[in-house]
Amino acid sequence: MKALVTGGAGLIGSHLVDLLLEKGFQVKILDSLVEPTHLKGKPPWIPKEAEFILGDVRNMKDLDIALDGVDYVFHQAAEGGFMPEIAKYVHANCLGTANLIELIIKKHPVKKLVVASSQAVYGEGKYSCSEHGTINPDLRSVSQLSKKEWESKCPICNLDLIPLPTDENSNIGAETTYAISKYTQERLTIGLGKGYDIPTVALRYSVTYGPRQSIFNPYTGVCSIFSTRMLNGLPPIVYEDGRQTRDFIYVGDVAKANLAVAESDEATHQVFNVGTGKQTSVLSLIAALAKKYNLDIEPLMRNEFRPGEVRHLFADNSKLRSIGWKPEVILDEGVDKYVEWIKTQSDIKEYFSKAEEQLKKMKVVMNTN
Ligand SMILES: NC(=O)c1ccc[n+]([C@@H]2O[C@H](COP(=O)([O-])OP(=O)(O)OC[C@H]3O[C@@H](n4cnc5c(N)ncnc54)[C@H](O)[C@@H]3O)[C@@H](O)[C@H]2O)c1
Ligand SMILES: [Zn+2]
Repeated sequence: MKALVTGGAGLIGSHLVDLLLEKGFQVKILDSLVEPTHLKGKPPWIPKEAEFILGDVRNMKDLDIALDGVDYVFHQAAEGGFMPEIAKYVHANCLGTANLIELIIKKHPVKKLVVASSQAVYGEGKYSCSEHGTINPDLRSVSQLSKKEWESKCPICNLDLIPLPTDENSNIGAETTYAISKYTQERLTIGLGKGYDIPTVALRYSVTYGPRQSIFNPYTGVCSIFSTRMLNGLPPIVYEDGRQTRDFIYVGDVAKANLAVAESDEATHQVFNVGTGKQTSVLSLIAALAKKYNLDIEPLMRNEFRPGEVRHLFADNSKLRSIGWKPEVILDEGVDKYVEWIKTQSDIKEYFSKAEEQLKKMKVVMNTN
């Protein structure tokens, strides 16, 4: 069996490449090594056993070469973040997926196409109000956040909402460029998969962390952003009050989810959450990292927030569990693996301070009143 992993040099793609090789697949990687993620060029973890193609999913010729002779495609290549890079994210994510599907239809039939989506498609996801039951609130407005009213509120009675695990049937609330581009990728994959009878699956990953998360990118990858600051004696910068929660899933478990849906007929034309189902606050993540680094550093909170950020989001993972997958690595263990890895990296620099100026100028980060 031959598999193509687009974005196979990145965090999730590279772990998936290792898993596929271990399972006896022949593996091709298509990756354009975008910066700043790959500031130092081709990363050392690309295995010799895999065929590496330096190329772009926006380019049909590159994709044509990459798809030749392939049975399974795992489409991980994407651009994302909070920056107002609207054309860039849409171009890389939507056009890349469109190219891939067009070539599969016209020339390269496959046994399965698995596309990486994101929990970002939900926006705020699912909550409950003690008075009004289940609610899918809108993203919090800038005026609300400016008043430091961090919790999502019931649109009917204005009470603080209680977060619930978000399942795949929850409302779509994609309002950021990244989220909209991910949802488009998903719809292209599932909708056209059905229309053209191509077995396709979309996976909505929760916040993924683990060894190989780029230590050069100050715009995404919370473990590395916090860690590169801490390892340079600087406090991590926290938005809101640090009590916002996320579902942090270990990268190895995300790789296994890809294989599980590739091998399951039941999964065809379905969308699955890939998360632990557990809520972890940003402050707890920092505490876990600080403990492993043996550092006594207090995070810095400066009354800042990011418009478009969600307050709480964690996955209901029962659908993926029903086809035999489960998360295996708990946060403490996963953070250990990440810390052991980053300690092996030489010359760890802190790029966040420099990026901050731009983040503020672009209103990616704003101050409260
Ligand atoms: N890491 C997360 O928390 C998370 C959460 C939800 C969804 N996702 C999705 O998972 C996928 C993988 O993310 P990751 O965390 O491994 O990111 P990453 O940045 O580590 O890896 C992405 C890889 O794609 C490559 N790439 C980007 N644009 C490309 C293009 N046009 N052509 C070819 N290669 C290109 C990059 O060089 C990089 O190696 C992405 O689709 C992302 O949107 C990630
Ligand atoms: Zn209410």
